[in-house]
This record gives sequence, structure tokens and C-alpha cells, in this order.
Amino acid sequence: MEYTTITFETDADGIGVLTINRPDKLNALNADVIQELDACIAEIESRDEVKGVILTGAGSKSFVAGADIRQFTDLDPVQGYTFAQYGQRVFSRLEGLPKPVIAAVNGYALGGGCELAMACHLRVASELATFGQPEVNLGIIPGYGGTQRLPRLVGRGLALEMILTGEHVTARRAYEIGLVNKVVVPAELMSAARQMMQTILNKGPVAVALSLNAVHASDRPLDQGLEHEALLFGQACGTEDFKEGAAAFLERRKPAFVGR
Ligand code: COA
Repeated sequence: MEYTTITFETDADGIGVLTINRPDKLNALNADVIQELDACIAEIESRDEVKGVILTGAGSKSFVAGADIRQFTDLDPVQGYTFAQYGQRVFSRLEGLPKPVIAAVNGYALGGGCELAMACHLRVASELATFGQPEVNLGIIPGYGGTQRLPRLVGRGLALEMILTGEHVTARRAYEIGLVNKVVVPAELMSAARQMMQTILNKGPVAVALSLNAVHASDRPLDQGLEHEALLFGQACGTEDFKEGAAAFLERRKPAFVGR
């Protein structure tokens, strides 16, 4: 599919780079971006050669500065509900991918941008990045998952502080509170994200997919999450990758995983 508001390129290692590409609007998420994101996630799901995805924003200033404010000024309650639901569905689809997704946060990650970064599995940030849920300044609330994913990542108190004050937090502060995994100088952002991705892609792909699936279930009550973990652990035990990984350890060599 031809994209106009995003770009998607895959390299020889199977790492796809998905870029939100509206730099003149600080990569704000309009309806076209959300639809193309949805289509691109379907493409990632269906293309076996895509092993993992790095998601970033075009330009040096912004990752994503939120949902496009021009597009939702006239929403009535029913349209607002539908608007939030569609974005949530797309972000949850991204989060549900069985392949690792790393946000490379290059600048403003505000509102829907912070929510998009949180729907990725891991976050690497430039030290110039800024995070925030400023929706209260507009008289609304986060609608693409912010009230749910932020407390899960940083705890309820800090999430409420960000959501109720609308204040931005620096990349360093985001690291301190567990909102991002790593902070690097701007010039090293993409190489740091690639390095983290490569480390993951060197592991058994089935184990990576099952780990994502199992940790995703950590939102469930503990007994259900543990049951789910046991089922997936059993599944992992039946793979060729497990036999190979264990044999390679005992033979003191690098494993050659086949992904099944
Ligand atoms: N929706 C639509 N357009 C946006 C946008 C958004 N969320 N964020 C930025 N833009 C647009 C601006 O309207 C401007 O467009 P224009 O040049 O056609 O006027 C362009 O992007 C550049 O933004 P500008 O505000 O001039 O840049 P700045 O450096 O002065 O400020 C921000 C940067 C991020 C602090 C500021 O743009 C901002 O606060 N954006 C909104 C953030 C927000 O509330 N997000 C949550 C939405 S629910």
C-alpha cells in the first residue's frame, strides 16, 4: 500500500522503521495517519520477513505532538466515543503484535504521542524528548489509552500528576519514573533503538513472541495471568528453538534458532 502520512521501510535484518511523517504539524495524528497506521500494522502482521519495528517521528522536533486538534474540535459525545475507540483499537493492535515494537522518541511525545509511545513494547528516547498528557489544557481527557497505560507503567500517583496537571516531563524524568527504557543523545537515537532491537532479534523468535503475549496478560488477575504463563511455557517447551537453545548452552556454542 502507498502511504502518504507515514513511511515504512524494512532493512536486510528484518527491522522495519515506521515513521509518522507530518513534520510541519509536528506529526500530529489525523484520521489519515490512524488509518495508515492500521494498514501498516496489518502489513507488519502479514510479512514474515519483518521481524521487529522501530516507530519514530519525522524531523528533529517531534515524535508525535498529539491527536490533530483541528480534527476533533466539533466532535459530539457519540462521535468522540467512536473517535477514541478507533484510535484505541489501532494502538492495541500495535501493542498486540507478536513482534517487538520499539518507540524511538525523537522529540515531543504529547497526548496521543505519549499514548502511541506507551502502546509500543519498549521506549528509547532522545535526551531532547518531552512527554506529557496535556489534554486537560483543552478541556478533554486522554482518549487513546493514556488513562490506562500510563498508570500501568509509572503507577497511579505519577500518572495522575501528569494527567491532572498536563505538565510536560523531560526524557530524564521519564526514565526515572519508568516511562522510557533508555535515554541517549539525539544523534544516537536510531542506532540505540536498532541495537536494542538486534539484541532481541538474536533470541528465539517464538520465545520473544510468547514473552510479549505472556507479559501482555499481566493486566489480568494474578491467578489467570499465571495460568496463561504456564500454558505459554508449555508451548515454548514444544519448540525446536527450546531444544536448540538448551543444547547450545550445554555445548557452549551460540544457538541457531529456526523460529519454530
Ligand atoms: N494538532 C494539530 N496541530 C498541531 C498539533 C496538534 N496536536 N501540535 C502542533 N500542531 C501544529 C501547529 O498548529 C503548527 O501548525 P501551523 O504551523 O500550521 O500553525 C505546527 O504544528 C507547529 O506547532 P507550533 O505550536 O507552532 O510549535 P511550537 O514549537 O511553538 O510548540 C508544542 C510545540 C508541541 C508545544 C505545541 O505545538 C503544542 O502544544 N501542541 C499541542 C500539544 C497537545 O496539546 N497535544 C494533545 C492533543 S489532544
